[in-house]
Amino acid sequence: MLNLKNNFIMPPIKLGYSDGSGKVNERHITFYRCRCRYLGAVIPEPFYIDKGLREIPTQMGIDSDDKVEGLHALVSSIHESGSRVIAHLNHPGRMANPAIEGNYFISSTDRPCENGGATPKSMDARDMAQVIDLFRNAAIRAEKVGFDAIELQFGHGYLLSQFLSPLVNDRTDEYGGDFENMTRFPLEVLDSIRKSSDLPVIARISGDEMIPGGITTPEMSVFSSLLEKHGVCAIHVSAGTVCSTPPWYFQHMFIPKGKTWEMATTIKKALHIPVIFVGQINTFEDIERLHAEFPTDYIAVGRALVADPDFIGKYLGEVPGAVLPCLACAEGCLGGVKSGKGLSCLVNPRAGKETELVEPAKTPGRYAVVGGGLAGMEAAITLKQKGHEVDLYEKEELGGQFNLAPLTPNKKSLHRLVPYFVQKLKDEGITVLFKDAAPPDLMKYDAVILATGSKPVAPEIPGLDTYFWADILREENLPENKNVLIIGGGLIGVDIATGLIPRNNRITIVKRTTDFGEDMEMIAKKLSLKMMKEKGTVFSDHTHIRKIDGKTVYAERDGENIQFEDIDIIVVSTGMKSFNPLEEKLKDTMPVHVIGDARKIGNAQDAIRDAYETVINL
Ligand SMILES: Cc1cc2nc3c(=O)[nH]c(=O)nc-3n(C[C@H](O)[C@H](O)[C@H](O)COP(=O)(O)OP(=O)(O)OC[C@H]3O[C@@H](n4cnc5c(N)ncnc54)[C@H](O)[C@@H]3O)c2cc1C
Ligand SMILES: Cc1cc2nc3c(=O)[nH]c(=O)nc-3n(C[C@H](O)[C@H](O)[C@H](O)COP(=O)(O)O)c2cc1C
Ligand code: SF4
Repeated sequence: MLNLKNNFIMPPIKLGYSDGSGKVNERHITFYRCRCRYLGAVIPEPFYIDKGLREIPTQMGIDSDDKVEGLHALVSSIHESGSRVIAHLNHPGRMANPAIEGNYFISSTDRPCENGGATPKSMDARDMAQVIDLFRNAAIRAEKVGFDAIELQFGHGYLLSQFLSPLVNDRTDEYGGDFENMTRFPLEVLDSIRKSSDLPVIARISGDEMIPGGITTPEMSVFSSLLEKHGVCAIHVSAGTVCSTPPWYFQHMFIPKGKTWEMATTIKKALHIPVIFVGQINTFEDIERLHAEFPTDYIAVGRALVADPDFIGKYLGEVPGAVLPCLACAEGCLGGVKSGKGLSCLVNPRAGKETELVEPAKTPGRYAVVGGGLAGMEAAITLKQKGHEVDLYEKEELGGQFNLAPLTPNKKSLHRLVPYFVQKLKDEGITVLFKDAAPPDLMKYDAVILATGSKPVAPEIPGLDTYFWADILREENLPENKNVLIIGGGLIGVDIATGLIPRNNRITIVKRTTDFGEDMEMIAKKLSLKMMKEKGTVFSDHTHIRKIDGKTVYAERDGENIQFEDIDIIVVSTGMKSFNPLEEKLKDTMPVHVIGDARKIGNAQDAIRDAYETVINL
């Protein structure tokens, strides 16, 4: 298609690193420079084609000539590695961000997305001509800048798929009704781009929108062959829509790996042009399987490169070392973009901060790290990389609390993180001492890092004598067919519920406030709560437990007395408290740094980032 040096491509992922001007900056350039070396091609973050069509305020643009210089620098920097660069052009239609001042909203319909967003204007002929102009100008600019190809977005619930999708397109003119009519406008856009630029055009599609009434794979096979007839050089098969099925769009860990690969296989049968496979391709085994069992032409690897910029280099044997695994959790990447801070990564504290270097220590010292949870392991590794000598103390199990996180059925992908750290400790030659570190053990060091984590707190409730915490998820504790009352409805309470439901346990979950799973990543929260509701979980918010007497739990809800009867098991997940008994004892004798949950209760990303930042700033 494009004469790439290999068949690995980085797909478009919004970064949110611009300053609001839409221009490229050093952060963008460094992010891609660190990742492109072993790739055939990079598709940078989608560019907005009009300022009023941004998905996030900090998106990069290709809407005007003031962007050309920055885009040219970006393209040149990627070209230096021998990789090609593909400009992804998209019009969000009704999915432009309503929170951005100046944005406007047009679509094939005048109905908003059922999950929120602005009410769009149903497009008339003038609007269509304007959209075609915007795409055409962006394509001409992409060619001028030096991009090697264009990727045009026909999927993911954005404007062109708002025409293609029977669920969205409710028009009665020649752009709606039957399949031919619904494909008319998207093909007009394609034809106009092909006429105005010589760059090859790749089409990105959703192989299935994964919603009843939406676009299906057979329809997309037919549409893809039309795209081929209209001159596209490859089809990039993703799934889902930003409006209705974000877990599919973002390939969240809660959805099964491999469905998009099956869609791509089916669609390829209708074509004579290459197909790009994408979706949770984040282990070497995935790549091997794709090569062995699927008719892959090109493989797109997104978040695995966010997590480990050398993922493909390591696969190709060009870079040594263990792969820092992407967990498909979406916590740091999607979470970071949504928060407005820009893309980050749960496992990789350097993601988006590649301009900061880990400088060697000016005066290398001898450090003890106490606690081998995520924070302690990250601190030990970064200390070693800075040239210090390090011993790591762990009294129970490396990985700490995070060993419990993959025990719920939908979070199995999280199990890859702790083994990575264990391997890395070994590779770095860090001594791990399995013991409960006390002050006498630590006197021989120049400084100590305390990463002793946190402990669950239980409220004082009369009769609360026997109860579990998240340790109920361990195989040896997992109950079956019981009535379980979970006190506390944050991340851990919700996770425990989703872990117990498959064993036929009946769950009641209570919370003092409202908003169950408030501290959860957005997609995990939505899907967990949906599953719990479908399985008959009783949710009781604004509920204060007053007393427990045998199998009866007495509570108060909005001033009313209520009871939960026939409860077999109580689980308490009412929060965590920092566990840091050593700081007081050591702080007058040596430098002491406290990190992770021991310093401030947070999540896995907070623990890793806190460790990394503390050490690089020592
Ligand atoms: C069920 C569950 C699900 C979760 N899911 C997620 C999730 O999906 N996403 C997310 O971001 N976060 C999640 N978390 C939270 C995340 O696991 C924690 O925030 C993070 O692991 C805290 O890391 P830490 O290293 O600070 O502390 P800890 O993991 O508590 O580690 C502290 C370590 O120190 C050791 N230690 C203590 N004292 C000593 C001593 N004196 N000597 C030697 N060793 C000592 C302990 O044995 C322990 O191993 C989840 C937590 C649970 C329990
Ligand atoms: C934070 C984030 C932002 C994304 N933004 C876009 C986007 O704007 N347009 C698009 O077509 N795909 C977008 N994607 C989807 C990716 O291109 C890719 O299809 C998806 O991440 C699955 O591939 P992976 O499992 O290799 O990451 C985004 C993904 C993430 C995680
Ligand atoms: S935040 Fe999670 S899903 Fe996103 S790149 Fe990092 S590990 Fe992968």
